Amino acid sequence: MRVAVLFLVLAAAAVVAVRLRAQQAPAPKTNPALNVEQRVNDMLARMTPEEKASMLSGSGWMESQPIPRLDIPAIKMADGPMGVRNWRGSSAVTNAASTVPVTATAFPAGIAMAASWDAALVAREARAIAQEVKALGRDMILGPTVNINRVPLWGRNFEGYGEDPYLAARMGVAYIKAVQAEGVIPSVKHFTANNEEYERHRIDEKIDERTLNEIYFPAFKAAVQEAGVWAVMSAYNKVNGQWCAENPYLLTTTLRKRWGFRGFVISDWGGTYSTEGSINAGMDLEMPGGEPMRIWLAKPETQRDGNGAGWLTADKVMAAVAAGRVKQAFVDDAVRRVLRVMFAAGLFDHPHAGGGDVDTPEQRQVARAAAGESIVLLKNSGGVLPLSAAKLHTIAVIGPNAAVARTGGGGSSLVRPKYAITALDGIKEAAGPHAEAGYAMGAVMEGEDAPKPPQELRDEAVALARRSYAAVVVVGYSPKLEGEGFDRKSMDLPAGQDELIEAVAGANRNTIVVVEAGAPVTMTRWIGQVPAVLYAWYGGQEAGHAIADVLFGAVNPSGKLPVTMPKRLQDSPAYGHYPGENRHVEYAEGIYVGYRGFDKHGVEPLFPFGYGLSYTTFEYSRLQVSPRRVAGGETVDVRVSVRNSGSRAGAEVVQLYLQPPPSPVDRPVKELKGFGRVMLQPGESKTVSFALNRLAMSYYDAKAHGWIAHPGRFTVLAGASSRDIRAKGEFELIR
Ligand code: BGC
Repeated sequence: MRVAVLFLVLAAAAVVAVRLRAQQAPAPKTNPALNVEQRVNDMLARMTPEEKASMLSGSGWMESQPIPRLDIPAIKMADGPMGVRNWRGSSAVTNAASTVPVTATAFPAGIAMAASWDAALVAREARAIAQEVKALGRDMILGPTVNINRVPLWGRNFEGYGEDPYLAARMGVAYIKAVQAEGVIPSVKHFTANNEEYERHRIDEKIDERTLNEIYFPAFKAAVQEAGVWAVMSAYNKVNGQWCAENPYLLTTTLRKRWGFRGFVISDWGGTYSTEGSINAGMDLEMPGGEPMRIWLAKPETQRDGNGAGWLTADKVMAAVAAGRVKQAFVDDAVRRVLRVMFAAGLFDHPHAGGGDVDTPEQRQVARAAAGESIVLLKNSGGVLPLSAAKLHTIAVIGPNAAVARTGGGGSSLVRPKYAITALDGIKEAAGPHAEAGYAMGAVMEGEDAPKPPQELRDEAVALARRSYAAVVVVGYSPKLEGEGFDRKSMDLPAGQDELIEAVAGANRNTIVVVEAGAPVTMTRWIGQVPAVLYAWYGGQEAGHAIADVLFGAVNPSGKLPVTMPKRLQDSPAYGHYPGENRHVEYAEGIYVGYRGFDKHGVEPLFPFGYGLSYTTFEYSRLQVSPRRVAGGETVDVRVSVRNSGSRAGAEVVQLYLQPPPSPVDRPVKELKGFGRVMLQPGESKTVSFALNRLAMSYYDAKAHGWIAHPGRFTVLAGASSRDIRAKGEFELIR
């Protein structure tokens, strides 16, 4: 008994001592001469338990909790990833009561950036975005999205980098490095397997360990290990029975123990469901918080959607610690991780004051270049493209997306730009004053108000097409039909658009279809009737210029598909295992996502992964592999020479696929392991080189919980697409 009393007295004295030290010590106006860990430890030692607990949840919709007593600022966030979305929040510039919208440059969507296969360009875009984040006085951008396109119908496919984990990893790493170099905190999202919006808060996905590691993890792993990412956002969904925000296998075993992640985990907005479950699993910062969270959580629709929030508020965290359900050390760790990133990003030393320029001429130029490089030329028969402005007198610009700029898909990523160039604007400008560019809507966008009956709209378009030299039909989706919070109803174009294309194609043999969408659409109904098709994704505010640049040849198209275009939805490998039943979905196709599935089942796609035409032609030759025999951790070098054999300058994306030898487990026919983009003048040749390391040769073995490179003869395939292999080589892995 006496021992217990003594213990209590000592414990009370210790608490008082910490409090006194915390209150008396001078505010740690930080000392940049110290290293980050020293500064973090110093700060932690000054914090009271209440202050620490308060840092585990936000103070508002887009701000973390500041602690003025210790000069700890709030992390001020902004939604992304394709530009700074206008937001509402508690800071002055983002006053929720403010009626002035925040505008910023709308860059092309993630899927468009992936179609450029140009990591350097993604880096330029991300850098511009980070500069706008700072110019607006914010510290963090909620992106990039690196979730895989598993099914064509996922509403957020446009945000991510397509169906291949290697490509997604390269793009994500480029984005993250560029953002962090600006002292802005990125947040790679959504960890993990956020591949459908249907019941996104409640869906439980059954995914085997190999599939997680080979398909859904690699872009996150690369973000951690190659880019040293500062923050990871957990996904809304459950994986194997547990919500991602309280999933110890994801947040602790995988992210921290296996990959060595040292940044912080932030929850997706309203994606938390427990106090100790989240903290003990490795969640560091719950968003949103404060009054905005409480008001939002009380809304019936928030409850109906299945959001969860308000679990990591200071009082709940303190109570969990007092009750022994959470160790104080876990709370300290969470605070340590947040502070570590804040110091590393320079938020204590160089606060982002705001008041800078956004949408500068340089940023617009990046947006235009990026949109231009992202466009994929799918078909060009009879050389209908490029159009010649000198020879063209009349051009019809038709379609529900012709005179409306669809800069991005819907939801939290949609940027409000200062202006946006429509395809009609761009085409008029490129065609010049001597050409007549007529416009007809042709079909109303599904869900939007129709100015006239459908037949009348179509007849007008047909009449215009008939009297024009060429007809450009701009079709696709809108943010209300493809966006966050819901999946697409089907793979088909929205109502009336197929009919419009067919009608125009019947009236004008130079009909060029431009598709704006974030994922594949069914094209079989009309693809044989039109000579040219461009896939323009969502190209941001400069999309109209970029489309015209490609149509008129100012830009030679070089984009390649980052997703397989199936002939029909039923051909998609995950078909039948989506969206699931009773809030359960089984990823039964396993690792056979995208081209891996088409290859395995011998299904002919409409256009394969990696496909895209140019106005010039390329020849591949002299594929060299060295050494031809490797063992252990030796790297294999592959070189291939590419020549521009046409008459226009152009860029080619050379893709390197690896075909494994027979192994104890079934493996994909081939997998992308490298790519290189080369710009070539007519007649010019360049050598593109790649390095294949042991990991590139490996598969994930679920029994061993690790990567295994099974010995044997590997075939190296260099191609212009996954189904257009132009050069081959071999090497042998001895052991
Ligand atoms: C989205 C996130 C986004 C967050 C904040 C969520 O609904 O899933 O991607 O960053 O909202 O707006």
